[in-house]
Amino acid sequence: MATTATHAGGTVEVLHWWTSGGEAKAVGELKKSFESQGGTWIDSPIAGGGGDAAMTALRARVVAGNPPAAVQLKGPGIQEWARQDVLSDVDEVAQKEQWDKVLPPVLAAIMKYDGKYVAAPVNIHRVDWFWANPAVLAKVGISEMPKTWDEFNDDADKLKAAGITPLAHGGQPWQDATIFENVVLGIGGADFYRKAMVELDPNALTSDTMVKSFDQLRKLRGYVDANFSGRDWNLATAMVMRGEAAFQIMGDWAKGEFLAAGKKPGVDFVCAPTPGGAFNLNADSFTFFKVHGADRLEGQKVLASLIMSPGFQETFNLAKGSIPARTDVSLDKFDACAVKSHEDLLAAIENNTLVPSVAHEMAVPRSVRGEFLDLVTKFFNSDMSSVDAVKELAAAVKRAQTE
Ligand code: GAL
Repeated sequence: MATTATHAGGTVEVLHWWTSGGEAKAVGELKKSFESQGGTWIDSPIAGGGGDAAMTALRARVVAGNPPAAVQLKGPGIQEWARQDVLSDVDEVAQKEQWDKVLPPVLAAIMKYDGKYVAAPVNIHRVDWFWANPAVLAKVGISEMPKTWDEFNDDADKLKAAGITPLAHGGQPWQDATIFENVVLGIGGADFYRKAMVELDPNALTSDTMVKSFDQLRKLRGYVDANFSGRDWNLATAMVMRGEAAFQIMGDWAKGEFLAAGKKPGVDFVCAPTPGGAFNLNADSFTFFKVHGADRLEGQKVLASLIMSPGFQETFNLAKGSIPARTDVSLDKFDACAVKSHEDLLAAIENNTLVPSVAHEMAVPRSVRGEFLDLVTKFFNSDMSSVDAVKELAAAVKRAQTE
């Protein structure tokens, strides 16, 4: 589609995986804003929470020499594609708009390759959240959110005894890995998480702390309903909304679902960080691939500038459930969960307890992440022992690192 003439706003094809209620509403804000600037938006949604199907589609497009102009791509994945020389930078826009001044340094670093911005961050998602239905909790006299995994287990046992599904869950590898990494964070703490899940230290991976983490995952397996296998994450959120289950452990894109359904924070649903007092980071960004034609290059620049504009950062994140990537956007219109996320983010940066999500592609290369997801899901769907799990995990990670 070589369009030579440039029209105001340009043309941009956007590949993403935002198809659930809250996700579609949020990306719709981006489309609307881009089109209001005269741009032509070509939507390429690839359904599948967590983005694995989208990343497979992306690889096929790049190999075919026809990459989309902008892709929902984040974390180390940005560097992996940049090293293959298929990205184009938007550094001219970033320098003109001084992005370095309004982004947390940890985030700015993720968006750059060779010192140049090749991606624009739309948000800061937090992964380590409990979501709950307060009316369901009240049925068994639970009035406070659990602060430790032991407290969670006590609450879950009470709920189960009353015939209530304690944990709404979708049995998909990325969802299994999302709850597992939050368990590791709560049982081991931020330093241990980094050692085991990011630095992939064999001793940490096979330690008692890791065995305890799998023991806790085994407990959580006992708190899901019989039909959990294969369920999409937003359908698990809907179970909590409808009072069919008490809790969900999921990133704050779940809040986007509650809000899109008109649910009120603190009334229809409540939020609390999962145990550990840290912050598990997942930041969405759009990464720009090399495309041809003045119109499409213009589209990339306009989209990059729009994504980082304060007005858009507010509108998008109010719908998405996340908080702005920009540090200078007021949170006046945001709810208590968002304000808590922001406060805890600042504290985590201060205390060095900010960790990158493995399940959401912020921490390790895709090959290593794949081994984590496979092993955790195998454990969740079998009676594998925790001791065997840590051995197999360490072996799989080592294999992925040497391939
Ligand atoms: C994450 C993504 C989020 C969210 C989620 C579920 O990986 O970063 O924005 O939408 O998947 O699809």
